[in-house]
Amino acid sequence: MRRTTTFALVAGGATAAVAGGAYARARLAGHGSDKPLPDEDAVFSVYAPGGKYGFLANGPVGWVIARTLMPVAEAGVYRAIAEVVDLQPDDELLDIGCGPGAFLAAKAQHVHRIVGLDPSPTMLHAAERRLADRIAAGTARLVAGSAADLPFGDGEFTAVTAIFAPLSHAEAFRVLRPGGRLVHLDNDPRRSPSEPASAWGRRRYDEADHRRMFEDAGFTDVTSRYRGAPPLAGELLVSGRKPVA
Ligand SMILES: C[S@@+](CC[C@H](N)C(=O)[O-])C[C@H]1O[C@@H](n2cnc3c(N)ncnc32)[C@H](O)[C@@H]1O
Repeated sequence: MRRTTTFALVAGGATAAVAGGAYARARLAGHGSDKPLPDEDAVFSVYAPGGKYGFLANGPVGWVIARTLMPVAEAGVYRAIAEVVDLQPDDELLDIGCGPGAFLAAKAQHVHRIVGLDPSPTMLHAAERRLADRIAAGTARLVAGSAADLPFGDGEFTAVTAIFAPLSHAEAFRVLRPGGRLVHLDNDPRRSPSEPASAWGRRRYDEADHRRMFEDAGFTDVTSRYRGAPPLAGELLVSGRKPVA
């Protein structure tokens, strides 16, 4: 019995250490040393189940991150996103890469309908627990899928968010109604100027790149702003609106 408890404590501690280390590295360092440069679409598979960094969002490491580190460490990020997206009671919100559903639970309780999309069963399970009341009431839905190919019809949403998650601007544009807004939060691109090309299996984009991706997809009223500053954790928030035809 004592041996089982010791084993459980050691295994749990090791998993928490790996999860904490990986999470801190991704959030604070914000870069990796991947070479060669990943292709633009690599971001849609590297963090998904089976992907190179899929362990960060799946299995025991993903479990620890989903239930402990992410919701706590990102409280300030959720506040910043909520300020920019300015959710209203009649909004229909899609959160791409919703993870454990912490943003939806903390900042979108007053919103008419919320949908969280994520490819990770570990994350969706954590989100299911967090949003149980709203799912039971029929005002929240969790969907397994990828940002690359959103399993939704055209114009289903009035607002789309993507927080530290892969994003296809064209797909977000498609599922938004005219007048709908997209808010994307990513690591501050100024953190590692000496490693401009690749970060954790994906391309690094600077502020101008982010704005261009919004504009190329058709968004107008594009804004960008930083939250925090390197070398401490910092993020870039970019937003845009789908024009009213
Ligand atoms: C760093 S977590 C952020 C979670 C959440 N947005 C938050 O900030 O609390 C990134 C999330 O993106 C998800 N993800 C990975 N690949 C994805 C893809 N192709 N499409 C959508 N989400 C993806 C992961 O499973 C994970 O839940």
